[in-house]
Amino acid sequence: MGQTRKVLLIGANGFGKQHLNELIRQQDEGVLELAAVSDLRLSEEAAAVVGERGIRFYTDYREMLAKEKDASFVVISTPIQLHARMGIEAMEAGYHVLLEKPPAAVIQDAQRIADMAKKCGKLCAVNFFTPSRRALSMLTGIASSGEIGEVKAIKGISLLHRSASYFTRTPWAGKLSVQGVTVLDGTFHNPAAHLFYSMINISERLSEQAGRSGNLTSVTAELYRANPIESDDTSCVRLVTEGGLSLHLYITVCARQGQTQPQRIRLEGSEGAVEWSYDNKVTLWKGADSVVYDCHDENFMAMRYRNLIDVMGGREQKLDVSIESAIRFTVAANGAFESSGVVHSIPQMHTRSDMNQGKSALYVEGIEQTLLAAFREGKLLSELGDVPWAKRTESFGLSGYSSFPQRFNLGQKASTQ
Ligand SMILES: NC(=O)c1ccc[n+]([C@@H]2O[C@H](COP(=O)([O-])OP(=O)(O)OC[C@H]3O[C@@H](n4cnc5c(N)ncnc54)[C@H](O)[C@@H]3O)[C@@H](O)[C@H]2O)c1
Repeated sequence: MGQTRKVLLIGANGFGKQHLNELIRQQDEGVLELAAVSDLRLSEEAAAVVGERGIRFYTDYREMLAKEKDASFVVISTPIQLHARMGIEAMEAGYHVLLEKPPAAVIQDAQRIADMAKKCGKLCAVNFFTPSRRALSMLTGIASSGEIGEVKAIKGISLLHRSASYFTRTPWAGKLSVQGVTVLDGTFHNPAAHLFYSMINISERLSEQAGRSGNLTSVTAELYRANPIESDDTSCVRLVTEGGLSLHLYITVCARQGQTQPQRIRLEGSEGAVEWSYDNKVTLWKGADSVVYDCHDENFMAMRYRNLIDVMGGREQKLDVSIESAIRFTVAANGAFESSGVVHSIPQMHTRSDMNQGKSALYVEGIEQTLLAAFREGKLLSELGDVPWAKRTESFGLSGYSSFPQRFNLGQKASTQ
């Protein structure tokens, strides 16, 4: 494998269109060359770009992997359930990989990807959107300086609104499994995967700084669905680390239009708090005072490409998001399903419909206030005491956890109420 900058893309529609655009942009800047693309079919728009640029197109990704041997890495932006197979085959064929998040649906598949990377001596980066490097060092710097006292909790929240068509846009949307293959396409495995991964990653950094173990010991999660889907659309998760940190995640895609809030992560200390928001602003609170730091960086996809290319070229030591670090996300996410046991239905009497740009959308009445209250108090929804549809679940141990499912009933798919 000769030149280091030829790139292949598998999956060019859906989110893959963003990769296609970024790859073309980077090609125009002379950073890399998009040699070939594979998809089952191309949208008109993607076909036009590929045709104009003379990019080779394959409907069979295996043929592309076999024929484009002078490329050095493959970007994979396909349905979750195909990630492991494609990532493993790409590395076996001799390519480095940039894999869309989540790395795989289940731990055992994420582990197989990591094992193959090791065996082949290939890099496998995962495209989680994380706080910018500046934001990360600001957060960890403030935490380690003692400015907010001892950090006890890391909290994340995301209030999103999705129309019904979000769940029909692709056959695996909102599914637990497709044709017998596990997908687990729910809130923290898809739209809030970035948030969840970043919380775990920050907790590891803080634990390392403090000389404490960042190993995840247990997870307690409540998974709910208001939409007619298999997986969850509203969830809360509590993770506990060996070193005593607790992580609390709150996420819904059933917020009412106009009531949404962008993702944010808050580190709570004994003497203050520091918070990251999606626009890469970091806010420090001490008593009544607050300071905002703008930690904006270049676009995250460009950074992922640059980081992979620089590690390939020996100019950087570490991937920003390696498959090994992504596995810990999968352990936590799979464990959250195990803890919930099933996805609990939110009865229709608590849901309403509205219109989003001419498309109907379902929302859960008062879910924004409910999740914000739980976020403030660090409680699960069943612990709030005033959420009629909330269900208590069992904590699930994560030490030595290596295969999904153990307790989650994929066949049962949803509880009835
Ligand atoms: N990083 C982000 O912010 C972000 C945002 C959205 C989605 N995603 C991730 O991107 C991935 C794709 O999501 P999506 O919503 O675009 O899914 P999608 O189903 O809409 O698109 C997947 C693409 O893969 C193609 N594909 C399917 N089987 C294929 C095969 N055998 N060979 C080649 N191509 C094949 C499909 O034709 C389609 O073009 C998922 O992992 C998702 O979680 C990431």
